[in-house]
Amino acid sequence: MNVAIFGASGATGRLLTKRCFDAGHHVTALLRHPETFPLRLIVRSVPGSAFDLSAVAQTIEGADVVLSALGANSLKKEDVLERAVPQIVTAMQQKGVRRIIVLGSAGAKPDALDKQPAWRRWIVENLVYKTFLKWPVASQRSQYATLSASHLDWTMVMPPMLTNGRGRGKWRIDPDALPPNANRISREDVADFMMQQIDNPQWIGKAVYISW
Ligand SMILES: NC(=O)c1ccc[n+]([C@@H]2O[C@H](COP(=O)([O-])OP(=O)(O)OC[C@H]3O[C@@H](n4cnc5c(N)ncnc54)[C@H](OP(=O)(O)O)[C@@H]3O)[C@@H](O)[C@H]2O)c1
Repeated sequence: MNVAIFGASGATGRLLTKRCFDAGHHVTALLRHPETFPLRLIVRSVPGSAFDLSAVAQTIEGADVVLSALGANSLKKEDVLERAVPQIVTAMQQKGVRRIIVLGSAGAKPDALDKQPAWRRWIVENLVYKTFLKWPVASQRSQYATLSASHLDWTMVMPPMLTNGRGRGKWRIDPDALPPNANRISREDVADFMMQQIDNPQWIGKAVYISW
């Protein structure tokens, strides 16, 4: 398949890019710095920013599926998803590309903590989502709102904390809330689950929680 990927140079994006290549897909990546991208020899690079509609459209041209692992480089207000996701949706609508699988985060929806014990829900809501993760959570809520209004075949994958360790090859999926006592999962396992969604229609039009 032809896969367009955004955020390919990031910690999860690099794993996704390598997996796409290994699976035999043709990968086009939008990159702000293609010259330093370690996987530049295995992708077709489109230089540019995800805020630039023409660069985004060039990346999506001819794609069968779009993957995104975009995110800000800090916990400050950067509005990366607020600005980039509408451009990706517009370009997909213009080019007639329907399938998109994005990396989100557990804070994107208000039901995220419904299956957690009350004490943990209180701590995460009041001491995490409203304080140091305030801007990433706002960005993820924006991404969810944009995708769910898009009429595309979207899937948003929502982990809690991401780690860089080895994948376990198994995880819990829940469309309603983070599974009980879910607190982390490796980027490797999230990348594997996102790859599996390329030809799995089960979660189209859905945001799903994933955790160990
Ligand atoms: N960290 C966690 O524990 C955690 C938990 C749950 C969910 N998440 C979410 O997972 C997502 C990915 O996280 P990550 O840690 O794997 O990512 P990351 O390493 O921070 O990478 C972010 C990617 O987005 C790209 N990017 C940012 N702005 C861009 C722009 N204007 N144009 C093009 N590319 C742009 C970066 O490109 P450059 O290389 O050019 O900067 C990079 O490839 C984020 O949305 C994050 O909120 C994170």
